[in-house]
Amino acid sequence: MHWMFGTMRLGFLLVIFTSLSNAIDPFVGINIANNDSSLPSPELVVGILRTYHITHVRLFDTNARLLNALSDTGVEVMIGVTNDEVSDIGKSPSFAASWINTHVAAFKPATNITAIAVGSEFLSSVPNAAAATVLVPAMENLYNALVASNLNDQVKVSTPLSMDMIPKPFPPSTATFNASLNSTIHGILDFLKSSDSFYMLNAFPYDTYVQSNGVYPIQYALFEPHPVAKQIVDPNTLFHYESMLDAMVDATYYSIFAYNSSVIPIIVTETGWPWSGEANESDATVSNADTFNNNLIQRVLSGSGPPSQPTILLNSYVYQLFDDGEKPNYGVFFRNGSSVYDLDLGGPTGNLSGGFCVARKGADAASLQGGLNWACGPGQANCTAIQSGQPCYLPNTVQNHASYAYNDYYQRKRRVGGTCDFGGTAVITNVNPSYGSCIYTGSSNSSAGGVSPPPSGPAGPTGSASPPRRVHKTGYMMLAMVLTWWLYV
Ligand SMILES: *[C@@H]1O[C@H](CO)[C@@H](O)[C@H](O)[C@H]1NC(C)=O
Ligand SMILES: *[C@@H]1O[C@H](CO)[C@@H](O)[C@H](O)[C@H]1NC(C)=O
Ligand SMILES: *[C@@H]1O[C@H](CO)[C@@H](O)[C@H](O)[C@H]1NC(C)=O
Ligand SMILES: *[C@@H]1O[C@H](CO)[C@@H](O)[C@H](O)[C@H]1NC(C)=O
Ligand SMILES: *[C@@H]1O[C@H](CO)[C@@H](O)[C@H](O)[C@H]1NC(C)=O
Ligand SMILES: *[C@@H]1O[C@H](CO)[C@@H](O)[C@H](O)[C@H]1NC(C)=O
Ligand SMILES: *[C@@H]1O[C@H](CO)[C@@H](O)[C@H](O)[C@H]1NC(C)=O
Ligand SMILES: *[C@@H]1O[C@H](CO)[C@@H](O)[C@H](O)[C@H]1NC(C)=O
Ligand SMILES: *[C@@H]1O[C@H](CO)[C@@H](O)[C@H](O)[C@H]1NC(C)=O
Ligand SMILES: *[C@@H]1O[C@H](CO)[C@@H](O)[C@H](O)[C@H]1NC(C)=O
Repeated sequence: MHWMFGTMRLGFLLVIFTSLSNAIDPFVGINIANNDSSLPSPELVVGILRTYHITHVRLFDTNARLLNALSDTGVEVMIGVTNDEVSDIGKSPSFAASWINTHVAAFKPATNITAIAVGSEFLSSVPNAAAATVLVPAMENLYNALVASNLNDQVKVSTPLSMDMIPKPFPPSTATFNASLNSTIHGILDFLKSSDSFYMLNAFPYDTYVQSNGVYPIQYALFEPHPVAKQIVDPNTLFHYESMLDAMVDATYYSIFAYNSSVIPIIVTETGWPWSGEANESDATVSNADTFNNNLIQRVLSGSGPPSQPTILLNSYVYQLFDDGEKPNYGVFFRNGSSVYDLDLGGPTGNLSGGFCVARKGADAASLQGGLNWACGPGQANCTAIQSGQPCYLPNTVQNHASYAYNDYYQRKRRVGGTCDFGGTAVITNVNPSYGSCIYTGSSNSSAGGVSPPPSGPAGPTGSASPPRRVHKTGYMMLAMVLTWWLYV
């Protein structure tokens, strides 16, 4: 498989690691739908993540091929309990324990699973009474199984909820959850609080914008400056909302407070904009999707939270990596790996920096030997270091030699289209494979010419490198707009 890195603009989703509930660094991750027929090879998926510096992904299930491909990549992974599984897990602690063993413990620590999303908008999909009896028990059973496996500090459990839970989200200060879900929501919030987890919110400004029939200016949904006459202000707090996503997240914070809970950090598990749609969806365009996602990135990386919680980051997962049948036309990439629209984070890229290319664990020896021969021959890798007596000769295994050769090839050739593939026997890793005096090309100690510096890792200069978001403040309070909104919702 061959795909052209060079045709894509670089810099989408420059993302940095962060602790989940006490986030210090902002990140934008991406959703990957659980639909095998819409997924290209896991290797291509990981290649895209590496190229675009995407370090957080959410899977909707526990696709083992993807989880394996994500091992040793440094990517933080949120996995999903499907709605069909919630009931069994809620009813049986032992089922939950075996779920954790099979889908979490078996992949840790190589695959950095850090969160489990229990269901996908489960409370919107399943009748309230049925949901109430299984959802919170399922979260508790999974949590207890994590405790038993000593993984509860590394893996958080939560459940993605849609904005449907909040019937009147504006003004944010008066928002509250649908009272008919009272006891279930209480159970969820108590669980999140006591397990030091976070609230997972799915929030699509596109949907609200479309349903509002022109009440909201599209710029407000797209994080763009909008006309002074249409500023959005909460009449109680006088907070000025520059983007609809900010207002949605604040509505959720206020709803949590209305339930007498102290603050629980919110992570936006899904947001996005469709790049195409039906004839009546004239705002589902490539241009608007481009604007939404790029402005979202700028907004998140600005490092501030929504008006009511300015110190809690707006960390978000874009919906989604590839198009899928469920909610069509939200894919950021085609299945051949090229992006649907240019994305520009304004980050410090231009180099395909990041990562070493090494032999995949478990790849068969004959294929590795073939890849090694190719890299050192037609691929023009410098294989001196793996010759007898040279620093990388030992351990004298095809795995070790292939890793060195693959990486040398990749560091030299990636900017002209060379990929880390080798018939599926190669994988990109963030971990510097150098050892002793065996220095891999691309590491900071390597003297090989023409290679970019190694990935600077978690603490990349994200904030400083991107221009500050356009700030659009005005002293005007447009209560007429506020009231229209209020009447509408
Ligand atoms: C996994 O991610 C967490 C949170 O960013 C980080 O603290 C931890 O070091 C990572 N673990 C591995 C094995 O990479
Ligand atoms: C509240 O939730 C109930 C049960 O799910 C639903 O029937 C009702 O329509 C919701 N109310 C509002 C205002 O959304
Ligand atoms: C919601 O439930 C909590 C406890 O479960 C109770 O204290 C509270 O009064 C209930 N509120 C409403 C509005 O039903
Ligand atoms: C919050 O606490 C107040 C006072 O105890 C109570 O009246 C109200 O029902 C609680 N709200 C919810 C949603 O539990
Ligand atoms: C477009 O039309 C279809 C059916 O005609 C309808 O279901 C859908 O809600 C419409 N979408 C918008 C954005 O109006
Ligand atoms: C899976 O993806 C294929 C190709 O995009 C699509 O035709 C199909 O409807 C999707 N299936 C589901 C269940 O979303
Ligand atoms: C990738 O697929 C898209 C959509 O099918 C197509 O428009 C594009 O030209 C393809 N790009 C490459 C590099 O093949
Ligand atoms: C790649 O990075 C190096 C070192 O940081 C820099 O000098 C060079 O200009 C970058 N290349 C591009 C194409 O931006
Ligand atoms: C190949 O690598 C060796 C060190 O392993 C170095 O001494 C030599 O100069 C390199 N050759 C070329 C052509 O770059
Ligand atoms: C790289 O160089 C630094 C400083 O000289 C040294 O501390 C480090 O161990 C070297 N790394 C490797 C992999 O040799």
